[in-house]
Amino acid sequence: MKTVLVTGANKGIGLEIARQMAGSGFDITISGRSEQRLREASDILKRNGIEVHLLLMDVGNDASVEAAAKAWSAGGKKLDVLINNAAVAIKGDRSLTVSPFEIFDETIQINSYGPLRVTRAFLPMMNKPGRVIMMSSGGGSMTDPVEGWSPSYCVSKTMLNGLTRHLAYELEKSSIAVNAVCPGWVKTDMGGKGATRSVEKGAETPVWLATEASQLLSGQFFRDKKSIPW
Ligand SMILES: NC(=O)c1ccc[n+]([C@@H]2O[C@H](COP(=O)([O-])OP(=O)(O)OC[C@H]3O[C@@H](n4cnc5c(N)ncnc54)[C@H](OP(=O)(O)O)[C@@H]3O)[C@@H](O)[C@H]2O)c1
Repeated sequence: MKTVLVTGANKGIGLEIARQMAGSGFDITISGRSEQRLREASDILKRNGIEVHLLLMDVGNDASVEAAAKAWSAGGKKLDVLINNAAVAIKGDRSLTVSPFEIFDETIQINSYGPLRVTRAFLPMMNKPGRVIMMSSGGGSMTDPVEGWSPSYCVSKTMLNGLTRHLAYELEKSSIAVNAVCPGWVKTDMGGKGATRSVEKGAETPVWLATEASQLLSGQFFRDKKSIPW
């Protein structure tokens, strides 16, 4: 049975990815930084007849990621698909010059270093062919105009897009495809109530990449299953 690990999956798009993947025959692990929130998420899935494994992992913390990778490796399981979904959009992220520097620092730690940290830690356990999916955002685009909202968050996703392209290049010889996804503006705690998309729609493209898309699409950025400019 193929395996998938989704980070930051105790709610929002990550939890919905786990729910949608349940029908595709994958052995699913959801990870998060709070054991209680993970248990609550697993209870929600259980009520829908879906069984998942839980993995405690704070993607912003080296020791936590190392411990999680060690626990996975001790279980002897290989990993087919890693979905780097965990991210924060911190309240008060209004200006790169005026907002407290800590906001920028924490955002980059979790949203940019986090996916790299987790990818490095789990790479030795990955099957070939394998797949790494980065949940990015149109906010990280170098093509769209800058709109000024959450600048640290947007820069963190620009860095994530850069990481995606370079990891895709580096991992091509290992048959591991690496892609970035923009889910659109989705109704979650992060996206807010005014968002235009459902969580089901937000999870659609990462689930497609995880289950159906060709490995040859590695190195591209997707929205609605279509390649978009960086
Ligand atoms: N919603 C949108 O409109 C939108 C648009 C573009 C891109 N995205 C991207 O889509 C992904 C999912 O977003 P979402 O809307 O589902 O957000 P969300 O509802 O806020 O969920 C974010 C998830 O990430 C987890 N997380 C945050 N920091 C973490 C850490 N250090 N370690 C482990 N887990 C951590 C959260 O766990 P806690 O409960 O512990 O905080 C939560 O499970 C993110 O990468 C986001 O940037 C979202």
